[in-house]
Amino acid sequence: MYKKFIPAFVVVFMLGQPVAALAHGGAAGIVKERMDAMEDMKGAMKTVSDMFKGKIPYESVQVRVAAETINMHAGDNLTKLFPKGSLDHPTEAKAEIWQEWDRFQHLSKELERISQGLYDAADNVGSKNQEDTSASMMGMAAEPEVQEGTESFATMPVEVVFERLSDNCSACHTDYRVEKEK
Ligand code: HEC
Repeated sequence: MYKKFIPAFVVVFMLGQPVAALAHGGAAGIVKERMDAMEDMKGAMKTVSDMFKGKIPYESVQVRVAAETINMHAGDNLTKLFPKGSLDHPTEAKAEIWQEWDRFQHLSKELERISQGLYDAADNVGSKNQEDTSASMMGMAAEPEVQEGTESFATMPVEVVFERLSDNCSACHTDYRVEKEK
């Protein structure tokens, strides 16, 4: 009995793989368009993240390229890929998007603003910014003082801006994207 159970489980698991790949490949029209845009942003985020991890050398030019990629997909360019009720298979989008459209739109605007910030902060690295880093840490501790929308990303350490950007992606996914079991 026990011996039989394991192979059965493995078979089910393995069957799941091509099915998932097929489902994703089956995307068409606007759903495919926005998935492609999201994948593009994922690639840009990975490039910058690899630099911070030291996997590839830090290059502010490449950070700006990544920031531009995200900026180009953000704001209205992103929200226009979500026409009301566009939930065709295999979308991972949630219907809440259209119930909370203002918030969804706001998150997309924030993506635009913070990616611009990443572009502006791309040179804020290295020891000359150590003091700025601790200053901004203190600033973060006193967060209520700084109103959203008035932060000056251009003078923040680039890592801090990158964190904010990454948090923005997650905030939207948490509420408006179906969590897929991995
Ligand atoms: C305003 C909300 C919002 C923001 C901001 C946002 N996303 Fe998404 N993202 C979504 C939604 C909704 C989906 C599901 C789309 C679908 O399946 O139709 C998604 C899907 C994805 C996917 C899966 C695409 C696929 O091929 O299935 C990736 C990868 C992704 N997002 C990356 C990012 C990254 C990286 C950022 C930040 C730079 C980001 N997203 C910012 C809402 C957002």
